[in-house]
Amino acid sequence: MTDYEPVLLANIHNAESHSLRAYEAHGGYATLKKTLRDSAPADVIKLVKASGLRGRGGAGFPTGLKWTFLPADHPGPVYFCLNADESEPGTFNNRILMELDPHQVLEGLILSCYATGASTAYFYLRYEYPLALQRVQGAIDECYAAGYLGRNILGQDFALDIHVHRGAAAYICGEETGLIESLEGKRAWPRIKPPFPAIQGAFRKPTVVNNVETVACVRHICERGVSWFTSMGVPPDPSNPRDPGSFGPKLYCLSGHVERPGCFEAPMGLTVTQLIEDFGGGIWKGRKAKAAIPGGISMGLLSADEFDCPLDFAGPGKYGCLGLGTAAVVVMDETVSMVDFLHNSCQFFAHESCGQCTPCREGTAWALKLIKRIRAGKGRLLDLDLLLQIGDFIGIIPGTTICGLADGAAWPIKNAIRKFRGELEDYIRRTNPEGFAETEPVPALVGE
Ligand SMILES: Cc1cc2nc3c(=O)[nH]c(=O)nc-3n(C[C@H](O)[C@H](O)[C@H](O)COP(=O)(O)O)c2cc1C
Ligand code: SF4
Repeated sequence: MTDYEPVLLANIHNAESHSLRAYEAHGGYATLKKTLRDSAPADVIKLVKASGLRGRGGAGFPTGLKWTFLPADHPGPVYFCLNADESEPGTFNNRILMELDPHQVLEGLILSCYATGASTAYFYLRYEYPLALQRVQGAIDECYAAGYLGRNILGQDFALDIHVHRGAAAYICGEETGLIESLEGKRAWPRIKPPFPAIQGAFRKPTVVNNVETVACVRHICERGVSWFTSMGVPPDPSNPRDPGSFGPKLYCLSGHVERPGCFEAPMGLTVTQLIEDFGGGIWKGRKAKAAIPGGISMGLLSADEFDCPLDFAGPGKYGCLGLGTAAVVVMDETVSMVDFLHNSCQFFAHESCGQCTPCREGTAWALKLIKRIRAGKGRLLDLDLLLQIGDFIGIIPGTTICGLADGAAWPIKNAIRKFRGELEDYIRRTNPEGFAETEPVPALVGE
């Protein structure tokens, strides 16, 4: 990995890296100029489609394909929502880009709007990112002054306005239709799909929603081409016709119990061990690893003996996790209690459930009550099966909820219990030796 030269993070250590002057001094906006001069919007869509770029926001949907879902010859307007809500626990790669290289993001966003025919973009920015707000707004102002935004951009028949919209400070604002509702001034309640945003999104008009890192990749694909992008990563699995592969560079967030946490760039498919050892300096304090979340907490949990898991879109799924998510790895050392892990996770999702779907609202709340009871030394072995039942029942995948928050709540529960059942049973036996017989009725949990 040592010979890999970063692209997405190439500029972040330059002096005043967030300024237009520094960005242009390192070739910034040359790609925009060239693309607007030489390529039609359809050419850019074709290029992005051929690159195999998959969205970096969590779901990994192919970006070029998503853009082709926009209705052809729509009278407009078409909107572009840049998803900069970045609320997945453990994830901070969008923040690094926005704070240290906002023009890279803007160049990618302008190119993406050009391709999709959007003349208005909303930069939906996580509320808790004040420095990113300042840097992004400053960069947008510089772009208007330089003629990269506004009417007749660079003398072409292309107009674009970018509005920064501060997020409403909730996890669910990052779900694309929750984001759109929030943008429209309402509660961020996800919409039932279809219709998908490409057909009916913001203000009921065709809308593209893409992540910050996704559009940053678009900027580099336009500059360097398809073969550069597909030269790194993991090709499609021939035994799985539904796997389009995982190409390109990736920003990996590493935090938790490692010597050097941070945001690192490497090709898709780095293993968890490589990330921890080569970039993170190993597990801290000379301790052993116990587990890690592979891509934000909603993706589930890997045990330490699964750290050869490759971080590409298909990798974590082969280890029983939900997917790659945001490739944000949080490492837990041997001192971490799985009871505490589950308590934290369940608390987060119960708090963040928007409450529209009964299985999610009730399931996350009951999971929290059960793990609280276990943690308080009043658990029963049967509670682990009750938790598993909740985990297996809630979510889009079992088809009981509107959005994927519930799947994200379920995976840490399912993985923790299935991979660490022995530890959880020992805890229950140790803290509640009298226990409850498995046949005894569940004591009232209300009010706990
Ligand atoms: C509960 C929930 C939270 C999400 N949060 C984010 C987020 O903070 N940022 C993001 O880009 N995508 C988030 N997503 C994924 C978005 O719905 C959407 O797939 C993504 O923004 C599309 O962009 P991409 O194709 O470039 O990845 C979230 C999804 C769910 C279900
Ligand atoms: S799954 Fe949960 S967060 Fe998503 S819409 Fe339903 S209740 Fe809201």
